[in-house]
Amino acid sequence: MTVGKVCNGHTPGVQGVRILTRAAKQIRKAVIPVAGLGTRFLPATKSLPKEMLPIVDKPLVQYAVEEAVSAGINQIVFVTGRNKRTIEDHFDVSFELEVMLQRANKAHLLPKLREISEMATFCYVRQQEARGLGHAVLCAKPLIDGEDFVVLLADEILHAPVSALQQMLNLYQIRPGPMVGLQAVEQAAVSQYGIVDAKQITQTLYRIKGMVEKPSLEDAPSNLSVVGRYILPHTIFAQLEKTTSGVGNEIQLTDALKALAGRMPVYGVCLEGERFDAGDKAGFLKATVALGLSDPQVGQTLRTYLKQLD
Ligand code: G1P
Repeated sequence: MTVGKVCNGHTPGVQGVRILTRAAKQIRKAVIPVAGLGTRFLPATKSLPKEMLPIVDKPLVQYAVEEAVSAGINQIVFVTGRNKRTIEDHFDVSFELEVMLQRANKAHLLPKLREISEMATFCYVRQQEARGLGHAVLCAKPLIDGEDFVVLLADEILHAPVSALQQMLNLYQIRPGPMVGLQAVEQAAVSQYGIVDAKQITQTLYRIKGMVEKPSLEDAPSNLSVVGRYILPHTIFAQLEKTTSGVGNEIQLTDALKALAGRMPVYGVCLEGERFDAGDKAGFLKATVALGLSDPQVGQTLRTYLKQLD
């Protein structure tokens, strides 16, 4: 395996990037796949979607929505499945709760609740069978008209001064094309991710030559892994329709992107920030500590507690 250049956490800059003439359009839509079963969190996920597990005081999926909205997205397409109704309820107005809070003299809590349903327009489409990430994205096709869009995987949290999606969209303004977020991982972890074969263009920007989903260490072309943030063109849908089942007998977004990279420039952006796989128990707990420490209400108490453990 050739070890890729390590993403060393620099903010994506424009230095050395040639300004292209094709203007980037403002991306308005984000697809967030939320149909997964969340088996790693059983029994907590027996009746609660894993995307609704709270980190500090917000469900996991709200972090992804806020990241998208703060980057200028105003329409969120959730690809849902069975037992995911609470996600719809969370992003809707809760009249009963609002009335109860008013009656209990807790009206000061209302604006924070209203903000959630007013952040964006929310649309839902069902993925009827668990056939992989590529298939989940394909389910969103009827809700995306001919435009570029972004995909966020809610169980990946990047704790950074500039959000992961914003870092990518900043570069998209200069290189408007399909893009994936990247971070280097330990060699032992390459088999958990999509891994890229890429040519470095600037300190943070790569051109993707190939991609492999969850390769063995021997087959991994580098240690640069795909983070769950993507900027995709509408043409990805035609590609996904042609993509046959790959690793895990699932339709892989990685395979469709690899095919796209053979026809047009697909970029990789080394993302700055601390990455948490909140879809995994240890990653979820680490994210809780990291976000808890920066929370104005509980940060200090948590810091004191952790110091005491030392
Ligand atoms: C998915 C993608 C993989 C990517 C990962 C990031 O895998 O298929 O390429 O590296 O997300 O979290 P999953 O974690 O859904 O198995």
